[in-house]
Amino acid sequence: MRDVGIPTADFSVFTNYDEAMRYVQEKGVSIVVKASGLALGKGVAVCRTLGEAETALKEIMLDRVFKDAGTKVVIERYLEGQEVSIHALSDGKTHVMFPVSQDHKTIGEGDTGKNTGGMGVIAPLSFVSAELMQEIERMIVKPTFDALRKKGIEYSGILYPGLKLTSMGPKVLEYNARFGDPECQVYMRLLKTDLLDILDACVDGKLSDQQIEWNTGFAANIVLVSGGYPDEYKKGLPITGIGEAEKVPGVVVFHASTQHQGPALMTAGGRVLSVSAVGATLKSALDRAYEAVGKVRFEGMYFRRDIGAKSL
Ligand code: GLY
Repeated sequence: MRDVGIPTADFSVFTNYDEAMRYVQEKGVSIVVKASGLALGKGVAVCRTLGEAETALKEIMLDRVFKDAGTKVVIERYLEGQEVSIHALSDGKTHVMFPVSQDHKTIGEGDTGKNTGGMGVIAPLSFVSAELMQEIERMIVKPTFDALRKKGIEYSGILYPGLKLTSMGPKVLEYNARFGDPECQVYMRLLKTDLLDILDACVDGKLSDQQIEWNTGFAANIVLVSGGYPDEYKKGLPITGIGEAEKVPGVVVFHASTQHQGPALMTAGGRVLSVSAVGATLKSALDRAYEAVGKVRFEGMYFRRDIGAKSL
């Protein structure tokens, strides 16, 4: 991103604890400390005080809690702003933008607590104008595909940059190389064209010939998780009410971690179901989704009650 001028947080990379600490003292907080290797999503600390930063750096670099994943540490400026998910589909030559969506990543209401795989999504976002989407495409999406092509990488499939909309413009937080989950579920509710035709066109390198139509209106989904998630939780608990939930107009329930045991349906993981709804307005989509959520039951079921609330 730095090499090709794609906007992201200011950052520096360190392998030495003393140098990392000096940098933090010089730059001040809020900052984000990341173990550069893979750490099961746990290697990122948002530090609001110098003390928190010192603890994070000590744990990663001196105590080696993430072992070799912490040999290199990335220290970034913390970005303030709304987090949004961008999805673009590419056949290696051209790309198409999907509508913008917003996941709610933390377990607690008001965006508090531990990070999860995603607790609920809304799309599209009324606070992201067509002009801003064009800017995101021009400053982030297109330069990313161009840079990949220059490196000889033919990128075919979904590119999903996670952005923060800061007062200094949109900036990349991360790149994913897949459909976001649960973002993908709301896209499936808004997509009018058959997904298979689009993916076929993508594989054949004919994306520029493919029309992609979206339904008007809004989609929302609410993720139902097992009590305790993202830490320890129980599995194998009976689920009821999905049929009733799907009788609410506009509602489709997606299964994430369920399993049949004879005729009964059981929980089989942390994120169990996603209750999605479409509506002419965001409010009607959310009202329908929450009405349907009220019909589903399993022991310890938890969900956030504030999905999309900031956008209403
Ligand atoms: N929705 C978050 C993710 O797929 O990473």
